Amino acid sequence: MSNDASLFLDLARKYPTSFDLRDRARRLMPRFAFEYMDGGAGPVDFGIRRNWSALDNVELAPRYGKVARPPTCEASIFGRDYSAPVGVAPIGGPGTAFPGAETYLAKASQKMRTPYVLGLLSGIDVEEAAKLAPDVLWFQLYRLARNNHQIGLDLTRRAAAAGVHVLVLTIDTPIRTVRPRETKSGILNPFKITMGLRLDAMSSPRWTASLLRHGMPRFSSLRPYMKPGATFEETTEFVRREQGGAFTWDEIALYRDVWKGPLVLKGVLHPADARRAIDMGVDGLMVSNHGGRQIEALPASIDMLPAIAKEVAGRATILFDSGVRSGVDVARAIALGADAAFAGKSFLWSLGALGEIGPEHYIRLLTEDLRATMGQLGCTNVSELRNVDRRHAGLWERDKLQG
Ligand SMILES: Cc1cc2nc3c(=O)[nH]c(=O)nc-3n(C[C@H](O)[C@H](O)[C@H](O)COP(=O)(O)O)c2cc1C
Repeated sequence: MSNDASLFLDLARKYPTSFDLRDRARRLMPRFAFEYMDGGAGPVDFGIRRNWSALDNVELAPRYGKVARPPTCEASIFGRDYSAPVGVAPIGGPGTAFPGAETYLAKASQKMRTPYVLGLLSGIDVEEAAKLAPDVLWFQLYRLARNNHQIGLDLTRRAAAAGVHVLVLTIDTPIRTVRPRETKSGILNPFKITMGLRLDAMSSPRWTASLLRHGMPRFSSLRPYMKPGATFEETTEFVRREQGGAFTWDEIALYRDVWKGPLVLKGVLHPADARRAIDMGVDGLMVSNHGGRQIEALPASIDMLPAIAKEVAGRATILFDSGVRSGVDVARAIALGADAAFAGKSFLWSLGALGEIGPEHYIRLLTEDLRATMGQLGCTNVSELRNVDRRHAGLWERDKLQG
């Protein structure tokens, strides 16, 4: 057995689920870092728990007695082949979980041939990410509206020049939210490096060593638009000033004109919005409630997925996130209409727990669990998951929604 294979076999024995990674991350990371990545909106993370329990309440009925062929997880998304329909959702400041996170997420995704959505607010720029993950890179933008979207449109052109395959516009952050766990852990808004945060960071030698290796995160893709040598605080101030609100339909049309490749809207939670997006030429929708980080009252995205899939009726690619912790969850999302599922927090848990080898271990876990789930259900390929009988108590019905 190769060193690589035995390392990952060993990890699969010690940390067989995402919650094992979460427990270890909680022990090893500075408190503010764990609270930043793990916490949601509202007092008790109810939105996060709703995502999890809504997924848990989707049951899939198996069919037996077929010829046993090992299932394949291979998936084609926007015409590109991936080893599995699982990917890394865009994450701002993932280096908080483990400094250098973007580099490790990009390398693992490239090696495992699964999509990596680089978040706008990342510690490596889009050009660097394209070198690390040339075959699997997608890029996410928030609304940078000043001067007629000069920065956002320039980033769009840079992403195209760098070879990014898919552009993702996040539409579900019309307001800034307060996340109580983050606030209570000492993260201030506007951000400030306080003595409390320094002491907290020093309590985690492995995290601090990675910070020394990679330096303070700088939101690298935005650097050309800032004054040279901007400090960390100036960088966050720049983002506060430039970024805000959610893309309007007119603004989305502007990006549709400039970006010639597949365009995805992330955060769609209503079939009428899905229809409007498709009518204006958007290629994909990411059904998402931002992992429960916006407001607690949003529906679990799995509960809205079937209504959106019904409206879309095959006219666009449907991506799913919010609550994915396992390959079983990926199978549930695909059974209910998604073409692929993405994860945010659980990738960060993998980094917080295991550092640079975390993301590869987690992609392997998701893929193997998806394969096992398909095998149990009697599916030999991903598209057969669509035909599995299911029971879905929390479902929002299309006919009862407006528009
Ligand atoms: C720490 C953190 C930062 C995030 N930053 C972004 C971001 O910059 N842009 C974005 O579109 N979504 C962002 N998200 C949301 C994720 O893309 C994704 O929708 C969400 O994490 C999925 O839910 P899950 O965490 O339950 O997997 C972030 C999520 C987390 C946990």
